[in-house]
Amino acid sequence: MARAEKRGLFEWVRDVRRELHSHPELSFKEVRTTKRIREILTGLGWEARPVPGATGVVGLLRGRGPGPVVALRADIDALPIAELSEAPYRSRVKGVMHACGHDAHTAIMLGVAKKIVDTGLMSRAAGAVKLIFQPAEERLGGAKALIAKGVLEDPPVDVIMAGHMAPDLAVGRAGVFRRLGNASADRFVLDLQGRGGHGARPEECIDPIVAGAHFVTQVQSIVSRSIKPADAAVVTVGRFAAGLAANVIPETASLEGSVRALSEEVRSTLIRRLEELAAALQPAFGVVSRLAVHPGVPMLWNDPAVAARLLSAAQAVLGRKNAGYLPPVMGSEDFAFFTEQRPGAIMRLGCSNPQKGITHQLHSPHFDIDEEVLLIGANIFYEAVARRLDAKAKPARRSRPPRRPALSPARRKDGLG
Ligand code: NI
Repeated sequence: MARAEKRGLFEWVRDVRRELHSHPELSFKEVRTTKRIREILTGLGWEARPVPGATGVVGLLRGRGPGPVVALRADIDALPIAELSEAPYRSRVKGVMHACGHDAHTAIMLGVAKKIVDTGLMSRAAGAVKLIFQPAEERLGGAKALIAKGVLEDPPVDVIMAGHMAPDLAVGRAGVFRRLGNASADRFVLDLQGRGGHGARPEECIDPIVAGAHFVTQVQSIVSRSIKPADAAVVTVGRFAAGLAANVIPETASLEGSVRALSEEVRSTLIRRLEELAAALQPAFGVVSRLAVHPGVPMLWNDPAVAARLLSAAQAVLGRKNAGYLPPVMGSEDFAFFTEQRPGAIMRLGCSNPQKGITHQLHSPHFDIDEEVLLIGANIFYEAVARRLDAKAKPARRSRPPRRPALSPARRKDGLG
């Protein structure tokens, strides 16, 4: 493709991203975003299917005849964060921001949609491409909801791929998990019922703050004392609500936290120890404790064959040295629900650029991307789709297995690599 055309696609994807960035919407409220995606897909000649009873869109483009159905997934929701940016495309919605790059994910997959049309890929290839624009990744409910509504059927998806912004990688680099990618994430809520009263008469009260504070301290021992040092785990208490005045012992306290693990064994140990420590508050402090654990997302497993092909596509776009396998991360990703259902893989796309001052992490009010990642992402996923469709159409041509690259070798914490 000529250079001018390449810049043309870059500018198109950048403009889509900027528009989405200015109009962020929270999970399951992505009404405007859904409408825009549908308009863009339809304008490109794609079928754009609404998701019954939910936000989100499924784009479909069929090829010459029956063949593999390759799906790409983009999440479309934003976060309740007030953006602190002077960029002309900054959020116009108070207290809502695309701080996790889902605007970029959406723009990239729309860029793939455009490139597929511009190159006439589907007139040469058999099969179909499905673009799943998924709501509510941040609340970790969107993927499950869409799967329940049948987005992986009609036509049935054979393979699914996705990408995520990675500010810990510089723009121009990308990484794939060989197998295990993201940690499981479960939420817990601890409610403590004490006996409130005068702050000067503690002997007549049962203080839920003191009990809760002990709990916060004790849970720190779970990772250090109950989990094998070579295993990874996180227990974070992110909310502790109790009391209203300096001289009053409150009646109740409420704590909320998150547990993350890279194996089912660790996951169940974390939950069992939380339950034991919560139950021990009753004999120790007299409070009535109730612990509720809300299962969130499972661990995300990439299919090794799909991951290898996606990596190979990234290396074709970026050069072999600039894309490699990555060790798992403790963040969670509800794409895990898709890879439970179908062979799939997620890729992390480098988006930071210290020279341009673009260094902030995901979920920061200063988060931004080097927009060069948009064209890179569109080209990688286009390449991955084109190879997958061509591979089945012409079985003689196989893509070479990728070499093990030098980038961040996996530490094999989980024993699987
Ligand atoms: Ni995200």
